[in-house]
Amino acid sequence: MSQRTMEAHYRPNWELTQAYGLLGYNCGYAKPDTTESFDDHQKSLVWQLLGDVIINPQSTVLDVGCGIGGPAGWIFQKFHPSKLIGVEYLGSSVHAANERYRDKTEKPVFIQGDAHNLPMPDASVDVIFNLESALHYSDKDRFIGECRRVLKPTGTLCLGDITTSKKWLFAPVMLMNKLPSQFNSNVHLWSVADYKTAFRKHDFELHRHEDVSLPVAKSIDDGIAEIKSRGWGSTKGFRGRIGFMAVLAMLLRRRLLGYDLFRAKPRASTRAGG
Ligand SMILES: C[S@@+](CC[C@H](N)C(=O)[O-])C[C@H]1O[C@@H](n2cnc3c(N)ncnc32)[C@H](O)[C@@H]1O
Repeated sequence: MSQRTMEAHYRPNWELTQAYGLLGYNCGYAKPDTTESFDDHQKSLVWQLLGDVIINPQSTVLDVGCGIGGPAGWIFQKFHPSKLIGVEYLGSSVHAANERYRDKTEKPVFIQGDAHNLPMPDASVDVIFNLESALHYSDKDRFIGECRRVLKPTGTLCLGDITTSKKWLFAPVMLMNKLPSQFNSNVHLWSVADYKTAFRKHDFELHRHEDVSLPVAKSIDDGIAEIKSRGWGSTKGFRGRIGFMAVLAMLLRRRLLGYDLFRAKPRASTRAGG
């Protein structure tokens, strides 16, 4: 993975996010018949992914690919887990996340790390939260193996990712990762079937799978409308972002991309055996 191109993609993103007071940078989830802000849509996506997963004051939660810490902060505030550790690849985002919570005494801990080598001991985590980050992982199979390693036998993996069942269409984008690092796309898409195979391989039992492509597309539309209504549509960073978001929403609507939420737990038989 190229730090350089990832920075190039995300740095303007979080700078704008910070400057305009938005809290996360995922696509969001528009609940039916509501008129929430884009910020609230982003929170709704977090709750939709977590579903009825139990997080209590004894829990250890790991947010992998936590960005600048919006979802980690919301989860911390709502459930007060014993520990919430955000792992993020980009040092600049870790710095921004730590700055964001600097004045709080009780807060998540943010550290730099790579999803392919989770910086946690075996069987130490109750809930892994991984939202819209795995599309950047060059070896998702290894990531899922790492999740299995660090999860307690009773733990839950909550994973939300952009997927495709039409990989041939995105082959040129993925082939860019073979070019010198400054040209990498850092996009590695899996299908739902690929995820199901990897869960089985790593002894996970899939408890829930939800295709949320349409509410995510609606959320993106709302986000674009909000950005425009605030008069930010022509500012440099947002111009590119609007174009990118509009294409993403269109691909989700046409089912060329999917947005899928998974909740998986270590398989009961392997749980019993430890
Ligand atoms: C679309 S953002 C989502 C951020 C956050 N989950 C949220 O919902 O606001 C994807 C994040 O994944 C991070 N990321 C990408 N590859 C990673 C890796 N190998 N390990 C850890 N984080 C990674 C990116 O730097 C980026 O901050």
